[in-house]
Formats: sequence, C-alpha cells, structure tokens
Amino acid sequence: MDAIFGPVPRLQGMKPADEFRRRLMLAGIATAGLAGCGGGSSGTHMAVESLPATNDTLPTEGRWPSLPTLQNTSGPGQFVASLAAATSTVNFLPGIATRILAYNGKTPGPAIDAYEGDVVRIRFINGLDQDTTVHWHGLPVPASEDGNPMDPVARGASRDYAYILPTGSAGTYWYHPHPHQTTPEQVFRGLAGIFIVRSRTDPLAMLPERLVVITDLRLDAVGQIAANTATDLANGREGDQVLVNGAHQPVDTIAPGATERWRVVDATNGRYLRLVLDGGQMWVVALDGCFLAKPVAVGELLLAPGQRAEMVVRAPATSGQKLVLRTIAYSRGAMVPVAPPVKLFEITTSQAPALAPIALPASLPAPKSLPTNLSATQTVVLSDMGMGPSGMGGAGTGRFTINGRSFDPARDDVTMKAGVPEEWTVRNGGMMDHPLHFHGTSFQLVASTRANISSDPRLNAFMDTVNLTSGEQIRIRLRIDAPGRRMFHCHILEHEAQGMMGVINVTP
Ligand code: C2O
Ligand code: CU
Ligand code: CU
Repeated sequence: MDAIFGPVPRLQGMKPADEFRRRLMLAGIATAGLAGCGGGSSGTHMAVESLPATNDTLPTEGRWPSLPTLQNTSGPGQFVASLAAATSTVNFLPGIATRILAYNGKTPGPAIDAYEGDVVRIRFINGLDQDTTVHWHGLPVPASEDGNPMDPVARGASRDYAYILPTGSAGTYWYHPHPHQTTPEQVFRGLAGIFIVRSRTDPLAMLPERLVVITDLRLDAVGQIAANTATDLANGREGDQVLVNGAHQPVDTIAPGATERWRVVDATNGRYLRLVLDGGQMWVVALDGCFLAKPVAVGELLLAPGQRAEMVVRAPATSGQKLVLRTIAYSRGAMVPVAPPVKLFEITTSQAPALAPIALPASLPAPKSLPTNLSATQTVVLSDMGMGPSGMGGAGTGRFTINGRSFDPARDDVTMKAGVPEEWTVRNGGMMDHPLHFHGTSFQLVASTRANISSDPRLNAFMDTVNLTSGEQIRIRLRIDAPGRRMFHCHILEHEAQGMMGVINVTP
C-alpha cells in the first residue's frame, strides 16, 4: 500500500516539509513543473496513493490561528457584508503554494458574527469557474435564501442572500456551498466557515470564546489537494491532515484555572471527531445551534460531519499544565477503516496568577419541547446498499438512497405543513453510520434503539444533524415554520452528492 514511500526511514531532525520533498525526490518526482489540481498524470496518482496516512507531515503552527471576522458594513440591527468565493493559495508546506477554494481568500472562510434579530444581507460573488451556492447550515432562513442545489449562482454571477435571524436562533452554525453534485469537492477544497448568532441575553456571555473549525486535508505528491478516490466516494472523504482554523496542531497559552467557551464545528466531508480533552474538565452546553437544558459534564463527545458543539472547558489551576484536545478511534461500521486518532491542539497554562473558576448556570435556555402524541408522522429509511449505478444523482436508484430513491431535485419526497410538528421515525438500514441533516430547522431527538441513549446528552436535545449507526432507529419531532422546498440529507457529503438526499415540500 505504501510501496514507494513507506520503507524510507525518516531522517533525524528533519522538518516535515523537508521530509516531504525528500520523499518526492526519492520517488523521482520533481516538485516543479507538474500539473496540480485535476491535471495529474498517472504517475502523480500513484504517488498520491503513496503518501503516508499520518497526521504529521505538515509543520505545526506555533500560535493560535484566530479566524478573520466578516466585516459588517452596517450598524446595529443589520448585518450587511460581502462574501466572495474564488481560488486562492495557501502554503500548508513551506515553499509550496497549494491551490484552494476560498471565501474572501481564506480557508476556513471568515467567521460571521451577528445578533438575533439582525436583518442580514450578504452580497455573494461567485468567482469560481463553476456554479455554487451558499447554504446557511442550521439557520431557520427562508427556503429561497438557503442556497439549495436548485438555486445555483452561476460562475461569475453574484446574488444577495437576505434574511432575518429570528429571536431564539442564537447559536453556532456554519456556511458552505450546496451546488448539485459538486458540494463535496467545493468543501474539501476549502469552502466552509463558522456562523455565530448571538443573543443579548446569553447566559454564557461572561466566558471568553475560542472558535474551533475543524477541516481536513489530503495533499498529493506535488502538494496540491488530491481528488476523491473510490474509497472516499464510498465512505466519505477523510483527509490525512486534520486542521484547526486552517492550521496544523496549533498551540496557545491560557491563564491557570481559566474557563472558556469553545465553539467547535466539524466542517469535514466525512470525518467523525470523537473528542477527548486531556488535562481539563469539559461540559457540553449546546449541540448544533441549540442549548441543552443544562451543562452536561462529559469525558468525550462525538461530532459527526456537519455537527457543532459548544463546550465549556476549564483549564488546570497550576502553571505549565497542558490541555490537549484530540480524537480517539471511532468505528463507523464494520466495512469502514477506523481513522487513526489525531491531536488537534495543545494549550499550556501560563505563569499568570490562577483565575477563580467561573460557575456555570444550573440551567440553560434550551428550546421548548415539541408536543407529544403527534398525529402527523413520517417513516424514513436510509440505505447505503442500493443496487444500480452509483449514479451521481439523477432520478435513478444508486447505492445511497432515502426510502429507496436517489435524489432528484425536481421531485418532492415528503410534504409537510408549515408550522405543524411531526414525529418522524428514521432507520439506518445501511452498513455504516450516516449523519442525517435537515435544512431550515432544529428537531428534537426523542428516542433511539441504541441502549445507551438515556445517558446521552442528545436525548431530548434539539439538533439539525443526528448520527445514526448501522441498524439504529430513532424518533425525532420536527417542525418547519417557513414554507418552501427544503433539503434533508446525509451530511457525509459524498453520500449526499451520490443521492442520499430528499426534498421536503413545506406547504403554507
Ligand atoms: Cu450543511 Cu444541506 O447542509
Ligand atoms: Cu444544512
Ligand atoms: Cu451517509
């Protein structure tokens, strides 16, 4: 598997980038003059397969990579801004310009930081050479403004996305492209950003915040982002370098005893993040865009692709201690290789005087539970074992289906009445985990056939994306307030693009 590069011993003291070039040279590949994105020769592809699948080929980042903020050009009560998607470059490896797709020149894109009640108008400019859209993942925006695959922004074109952030929508969201069938590629090449909606009555407003946007990256032999392989299409792409705000294993310092609020986004196409924190305490306070009813102390937390969590973290009370966020092995089905654990970042307590611990509120403003005994119900079965061409969408039945059908943008799969809650039963009839996501709303998870669900902070919580393991059946309560055609789909983006998506037509 690692035939060309594997047996070469790593030289002592050599920096990862030098090591990368040395391996290229040993393989007879020059670092100049080779085609990059999409233009690889077969020789390049052989080398791509041969890169080591570890998380240590990129240099580490010696500082905390703060995200730029999207500039609001208006005053309070409005959020007016301009967002452009275009190609750009990043030096992930010193001296190698890796071509990326970027929002306002960066991957991840700028953090959007707005308030509940704001009237948002974002002028979007598509500087890509293909159609795209901007989808506001999790936000209750009108269907026409939600960047659905049916509403592409043509290359070179622009449009305004306009909506109000309603009261009660405060939380952590993200934005990413959602064009028909090309979403996976646009996201893994760099298009994704965090979107924070704030409340003027936030019970955790006293805590300093840390934004943690997780993406991953796979570079080919010439340091360019590699195309998807057949394995990626089957399992969802997992890059081999996991990045935090676009940087590799960054570090920071913190006052001893400090309490922070972390907003974490899994913006990868197909990587599960089973998070553990070494050296400190961690409470989950929100999942996706909604508070839990109270802070829940956890030893670990699983984030599936598309999901977010807000965690409160307390640093050790003495100097020189380390707080390390890392992932541990998670199996997402018997047929899927388990991704190696990775270290995400490391924070060291400083020499500053220890801070007194900040007490957490005993309860949090979770959304009000949806009514029980709902008469409107739906049953949904996810499958990853469909027959026929793994057709990239279209009306045919491919491998990845919902209720036996592949996505068809012209077809309504379900109809719902706006504002009327329904109870849905969803079963994962496939062989691997699938994170199911609904647009334009947050739903309440009320039951699962998984034995340990009663101790799970997700039970009765509101989310916009829920992971289902193979064979698991769940019940959710779901209400969509604004009429229009809404998407629901697996958030492993390769599965979505190959058909595991449907349309809910919400009628007035
Ligand atoms: Cu994160 Cu349909 O989206
Ligand atoms: Cu979404
Ligand atoms: Cu899936």
